[in-house]
Amino acid sequence: MATTAHRGTWGSKAGFILAAAGSAVGLGNIWGFPTQVGQGGGAVFVLIYLACVLFICLPIMVAELVIGRRAQLDPVGSFSLIRPGSNWWLVGVLGVLAGAGILSFYSVIAGWSLAYIWFTASGAVSPDAVGAFFGDFTANGPLSIGLTLVVLGATAAVLVGGVQSGIERVTKVMMPALIGLLLILAIRAATLPGAAAGLTYYLKPDFSRILDPAVINAALGQAFFSLSLGMGAMLTYGSYLSKRESIVTAACWVVALDTGMALLAGFIIFPSGFSIEGFDPSAGGPGLIFAVLPRLFATLPGGQLVGAAFFILLTMAALTSTISLLEVPVAHFIDVHKWTRRKAVLLVTTGVFLLAMPSALGNGAVGALGNLPGLGVDFMTMMGTVWNDFALPIGGLLTAVFVGWVWRVDQAIEEVELHGASFPARRLWSVLIRYVCPVAISVIIVYTIVS
Ligand code: PHE
Repeated sequence: MATTAHRGTWGSKAGFILAAAGSAVGLGNIWGFPTQVGQGGGAVFVLIYLACVLFICLPIMVAELVIGRRAQLDPVGSFSLIRPGSNWWLVGVLGVLAGAGILSFYSVIAGWSLAYIWFTASGAVSPDAVGAFFGDFTANGPLSIGLTLVVLGATAAVLVGGVQSGIERVTKVMMPALIGLLLILAIRAATLPGAAAGLTYYLKPDFSRILDPAVINAALGQAFFSLSLGMGAMLTYGSYLSKRESIVTAACWVVALDTGMALLAGFIIFPSGFSIEGFDPSAGGPGLIFAVLPRLFATLPGGQLVGAAFFILLTMAALTSTISLLEVPVAHFIDVHKWTRRKAVLLVTTGVFLLAMPSALGNGAVGALGNLPGLGVDFMTMMGTVWNDFALPIGGLLTAVFVGWVWRVDQAIEEVELHGASFPARRLWSVLIRYVCPVAISVIIVYTIVS
């Protein structure tokens, strides 16, 4: 067993759940989920998404936390500690690469959110021209680059301070505030004219698309992305988890919070979107929330302040996610290559910033549809497909095979049950992790590639 004395641990169980939920809850829920629902045809996407979360992602969440807590190392170190001399460490490498790859476009969108704090507070976005405003704004490459740099700089600053002090504190305040504000917005959205059509779109599935491989693959990728799975972020967070905590309870909490927040975001975007004349959810693209929300804020008393508060919270939620994305490659260079934390943070952040350039610069091509922007397939969308739709599910698949067939489930169960923690439904979990996860993910990926 590796020495663990130098590693940070979470301050408390609530602290861990908050930090893991902080990693999970972010742009994936509030920006990504409604965007994907819009492109995936509405309620049918939601249905497939929920099935992926429950039957594939929740078991893999437990698996990642267990590996991390057993090995107490970064993903690469963890796989090679548990199976020395094998090639399984390459799964960790995939995760380290995915962390940097995802962060490179994620930080650009987080930068948009940061800018919208000012745009909504100052009243710069006029509710009648939200689409054009977003288009002009994102076409300004140097501005996007500057904002990305601010986001990465803030993330790096937190990570230099170590795991516990930064993340736990931010999340403790941000999470309840965000839930409260989302609830208020959802209630307001439900009372807008046209809201009923939005709710129907969101809740009443059109079953003709239920076997569409593109929809299923997107839902699977979105579930992995939203839950921070398949790339070792949860594994790394699990490595800081005390041996006394119950992994299964923590996993259920994180999944419930994350899924609840995503669903809530849909209850805001679709009713308010459909209250706008000529709204087409599938044409919104990456700008969907930036085009819909400012109009919703305009219908509220003190809308400028509410809007600013919303984007402050969204930016904070994004930061607790960027922290976990950056922590995976950083932990790798500290644990395996013995770099100092400071050096690892500095070099990895610089690399990610360079990789972020094309995403920050590639958003000039905005085709207007009504007042809403629809972006073509640009560099950023391509990065999303490569990492979210393929790398994360493949990472999850390999993690499931590793725990189910290589390390074996009884070893994992033993780790979960240390110090008398209970493992409810461990039989079911074993079946899911050994058979259901590997088969379902392989079928979805092969089906997508073939068609
Ligand atoms: N889950 C985060 C979100 O929804 C993004 C993320 C993905 C974070 C993968 C870490 C690892 O915004």
